[in-house]
Amino acid sequence: MRVALLGSGRGSNAEAVLRAQAEGRLGRATAAGVWCDVPTAPMLALGPRFGVPATYLDPGPFRTKFSPEREAAWASALRDAGVDLVVLAGFMRVVKAPLLEAFAGRMINLHPSLLPAFPGLDGIGQAWRAGAPESGCTVHWVNAAVDGGAHLGQSRVRREPDDTQESFAAKIHAAEHALLPKVIAELAERPPFR
Ligand code: GAR
Repeated sequence: MRVALLGSGRGSNAEAVLRAQAEGRLGRATAAGVWCDVPTAPMLALGPRFGVPATYLDPGPFRTKFSPEREAAWASALRDAGVDLVVLAGFMRVVKAPLLEAFAGRMINLHPSLLPAFPGLDGIGQAWRAGAPESGCTVHWVNAAVDGGAHLGQSRVRREPDDTQESFAAKIHAAEHALLPKVIAELAERPPFR
């Protein structure tokens, strides 16, 4: 199962997947590369570090969505790379047809909350400001509803009395770094990937 890691920024979750692969914890999954919609994203440096292709692709002129032409170009690029599973790991752009159609049932997203709670932007800040006693992270299938697809895995993180928003966020990120590679390895054992 060849996995494309799509992101827009830091890339700590893509790094966690690449590290899992390097340490033999990704099972039958292989990272095909990193694709980024921001030319200056630190995530692009993961390519040379882990010996995988790292590619900036123009998403078009909009901030939170693709232009239809550019979305078709992304779909072609990922198809040409022989990608089986698309992983949105900190990818801050809504995916619709034609990219979603090209990878229907073969695209997953990582979100920093216990969905369905706190979907959309800044899931950690939303949970913090709401005073939620716990939050966490979710890996789910991508469908046309933003953060709405069926869940593949969740990890819970408690908010302790001495937490700051920063320490709470750090614990959620650590939970993400463990959960995402685990879900990818599990998916590689399931049809249609196996
Ligand atoms: C992660 O916390 C991820 O869950 C979140 O962006 C962060 C990316 O961090 N994604 C979303 O909020 C998607 N709606 P990273 O670039 O260090 O992996």
